[in-house]
Amino acid sequence: MEVDLYERIWMWAATGLIVVFLGAILLTTGAQAIEPPSHVETIDPTTIPTHPEFGTPTITQRPDGSVVVPVVAAMFAFTPSPIEVPAHTPVTFRITSMDVIHGFEIAGTNANAMAIPGYVSQFTITFPTAGEYQIVCNEYCGLLHHMMSGKLIVK
Ligand code: CUA
Repeated sequence: MEVDLYERIWMWAATGLIVVFLGAILLTTGAQAIEPPSHVETIDPTTIPTHPEFGTPTITQRPDGSVVVPVVAAMFAFTPSPIEVPAHTPVTFRITSMDVIHGFEIAGTNANAMAIPGYVSQFTITFPTAGEYQIVCNEYCGLLHHMMSGKLIVK
C-alpha cells in the first residue's frame, strides 16, 4: 500500500505524541507519586455535625505510632486548624466536605486531594522535616474561595 509522505509524517508525529503523553503519566506516577485516588468511601454529608469521626475532627495516634487526621472542608475553612502532626511519621489525612467540592492541597508537597461532599478522600504522607505548611483550597467553591486556607505544623 502506498502511503503519502506527508501522511506518514503525521502518523509518526501522532504516534510520538501518544508515547510522550503515556510517558508523562508513567513519569508522574513513578517518579512523583502522583496517582489517581484508589480509596472509595462514602459518607452522608448531612450527618457530619454529629458524626463520630468528623463531628469534632480530632487528630489521633494509632497503636503503631502513625497519625490519623480527619478534616472537614466547608465554606470557607478547614477544620481542624491548625493541624499539628509529627515529622518522620506516616500521617493519614481523611478529608470530606460539608457543602460543595473543595480542594485540599498542602502547598510545597505532592499532597493534593479533592474534598467531595458524600465521599471521604484519603491519603498517607510522611513529612521528612519539621516546618509549617499552608493548606490551600484549589477548587473554586464560592465567593471567598481565595480566602480558604489552613495551616499545617509539622513538629
Ligand atoms: Cu474551598 Cu475553594
